[in-house]
Amino acid sequence: MRSQHVEGLPDMQTPKKPVLVVGATGLLGCNIVRLLRDAGRSVRAVVRPGASEEKRRELEACGAELVPADLKDVDSLRAVCREASAVISTASATVSRREGDSIETVDRLGQLALVEAAEEAGVGHFVFVSFPPSDIDYALQRAKRGVEERLRSSRRLTWTILQPVNFTEVWLSPMLGFDPVGGSVRVFGTGRERMSWISVADVARFSAAAAETEALAGKTLVLGGPDPLSPLNVVEIFRELGAPECTIEHVPESALEAQLKGATNELEEAYAAIMLTTARGHAVDMRPALELLPGKLRTVREYAAAWLQRVGVRPQYHETREN
Ligand SMILES: NC(=O)c1ccc[n+]([C@@H]2O[C@H](COP(=O)([O-])OP(=O)(O)OC[C@H]3O[C@@H](n4cnc5c(N)ncnc54)[C@H](OP(=O)(O)O)[C@@H]3O)[C@@H](O)[C@H]2O)c1
Repeated sequence: MRSQHVEGLPDMQTPKKPVLVVGATGLLGCNIVRLLRDAGRSVRAVVRPGASEEKRRELEACGAELVPADLKDVDSLRAVCREASAVISTASATVSRREGDSIETVDRLGQLALVEAAEEAGVGHFVFVSFPPSDIDYALQRAKRGVEERLRSSRRLTWTILQPVNFTEVWLSPMLGFDPVGGSVRVFGTGRERMSWISVADVARFSAAAAETEALAGKTLVLGGPDPLSPLNVVEIFRELGAPECTIEHVPESALEAQLKGATNELEEAYAAIMLTTARGHAVDMRPALELLPGKLRTVREYAAAWLQRVGVRPQYHETREN
């Protein structure tokens, strides 16, 4: 298959050892596999037994080698790390879980075991997808920081740690109650705190490039989109582009704090903490990261326009009513 130029990834001459992607069936992982394949890289994609046929076919269609492994099974990690040039790990039990999966077994112990297996196999580089530090103490954050520390102290691996903020395609979608096209939007907190929502495609580009770009080695990069926008700013953009009138439901910070306090397990705690972090916003200065990996970042306006186009909405001028 003739490779195509992918921004940030130098054109490839001779195929190198495969890049191992752990989390390949996930939203970000799947984007990374596609990008690497488009750039002519050989890719080994971890697909757990029982994964959806659709996901399998999608990964096979782009020419990835599918390998079975589970972060809870150290032997499987040793096997898939063998002869890999780099590891990119996006896996997390936050959303996608099977029996025995938890923040402890996957995000902490599983990821630490993967770092160990990569070291033993003599893998060259490890790219770990995390998120930026927040002042809320919770198990998922402790797990991510623990893996970051383990990587930074490794004497056998070079590493890149990526800390993207909220993915546009996840947080500004009906999946999380954000549906300006359907006319109703849920916002966390006042909806006035700005967030540098980042497209999963841009996180994928940094992740793929980090597997082989010298300039990104030994770096911990906070990643965000080009424009810090509050959820209410985003509603305004959809309206300007022709979305219908929209009702806004607020989830007060105090309710999220109570949810965090009342959490009965690590997952409930993680959800409450992540929604609270979202309510407080996070604006990111992307200049340092773009100096290391130049390229255009997707805007929320482009995302909104594409969404409206998909559902055939024509521009009309409307007022927004707030509950
Ligand atoms: N979503 C956001 O806004 C956001 C923001 C910042 C950072 N992040 C980070 O970005 C990363 C990727 O997020 P995403 O949205 O792509 O997640 P996702 O769609 O939920 O994908 C998670 C992946 O982890 C895999 N996984 C779960 N347990 C596993 C195990 N025991 N062994 C092997 N693989 C396992 C899943 O495999 P199966 O399909 O087999 O279950 C799936 O491929 C996460 O680490 C997350 O913390 C996300």
